[in-house]
Amino acid sequence: MSRIELRKVAKRWGDVTAVEPTDLAIGDGEFVAILGPSGCGKSTTLFMLAGIYVPSEGEIRFDDAVVNEVEARDRNVGIVFQSYALYPHMTVRENILFPLRFKSVPRDQARARAQAAAALVRVEELLERKPGQLSGGQQQRVALARALVKEPQLLLLDEPLSNLDASLRMTMRSEIRALQRKLGVTTILVTHDQIEATTMADRVICMSKGRIEQIGTADDLYHRPDSLFVAGFIGSPPINQLAGRAGEGKVVLGEATLGLRGAAAGAVVVGIRPEAVRLGDGPLRGRIDDVEPHGREAIYHLSTPLGVVRALEAGATPRFRVGDALAFGIESSLVFDAGSGRRLGDCALDLRA
Ligand SMILES: Nc1ncnc2c1ncn2[C@@H]1O[C@H](COP(=O)(O)OP(=O)(O)O)[C@@H](O)[C@H]1O
Ligand SMILES: [Mg+2]
Repeated sequence: MSRIELRKVAKRWGDVTAVEPTDLAIGDGEFVAILGPSGCGKSTTLFMLAGIYVPSEGEIRFDDAVVNEVEARDRNVGIVFQSYALYPHMTVRENILFPLRFKSVPRDQARARAQAAAALVRVEELLERKPGQLSGGQQQRVALARALVKEPQLLLLDEPLSNLDASLRMTMRSEIRALQRKLGVTTILVTHDQIEATTMADRVICMSKGRIEQIGTADDLYHRPDSLFVAGFIGSPPINQLAGRAGEGKVVLGEATLGLRGAAAGAVVVGIRPEAVRLGDGPLRGRIDDVEPHGREAIYHLSTPLGVVRALEAGATPRFRVGDALAFGIESSLVFDAGSGRRLGDCALDLRA
């Protein structure tokens, strides 16, 4: 188990900056997720922690020891790659044993550890098979066993579930989470899937363009996003973003003028979660363009003078139909500076007005 720290760690390839100078501290036994869109630098960060990439700048510390120059095999880090990267010509047992090859673990002990790792992820019956004879889910478990056999002080998971079908993904999410709790190993999960990040990790590190945008719990990122980027990335369907102009305790949104609490002036973006849109009554007007029934809820697309607004309503039977013109109101809101994209923390629509 380990405490992990990045101090101004950056990675560049020529003109490409994959990771800007980044500070980050991860506690012993913590489970964090690095969440962000494709290309934002998640895997690069993970590969620097694994010792596969050497940082261009800064220091990586495991329990206060700088490990920048320590090779991958000497770092005691277990990693699961998106592709699993199992050796096709080796059996499952040989794959799981492989990381112990470079360690002076006696043969009997190595076999016992491989057996134990296989038991942890329930692949004991598959030990004599080759990876080609396994399903995607089974290969994923073997890759996990191979990462755990060293009893690593840090477990790194790079999009481990993205090649699995939806129902298996859900099972594996809770299995990995339970395994991590049981072992107490410091774990970093890289994913572009917000559900994976928020359901599995204690804290989520939200990244964009090589930079950390925000670190927080699922609740922080959803209810108190620091930026429009985070607000837009977390939540499905995504938050509505209405361009407006603020001043003198008001915000003008198209044809409507609403009260505004807090100090904002100039161009703002008002963020409204689809479930905070109240259909049927209120100061704004729209027309239903599309209705998506989802069983226990319905998602409406409204065309409004401000653009398309999405609304989510609980209930099995949609209350409105395509073509209905209606008024709507807003139950809660977030307000962002349009220029910087930062959230104006003390601002919200004044819904009493
Ligand atoms: N070995 C490399 N050489 C050059 N550029 C790279 C290399 N690896 C990654 N990059 C670039 O760095 C950026 C971040 O990549 P990556 O960390 O793989 O993103 P993510 O895992 O978030 O999808 C991308 O622009 C990618 O093209
Ligand atoms: Mg990646």
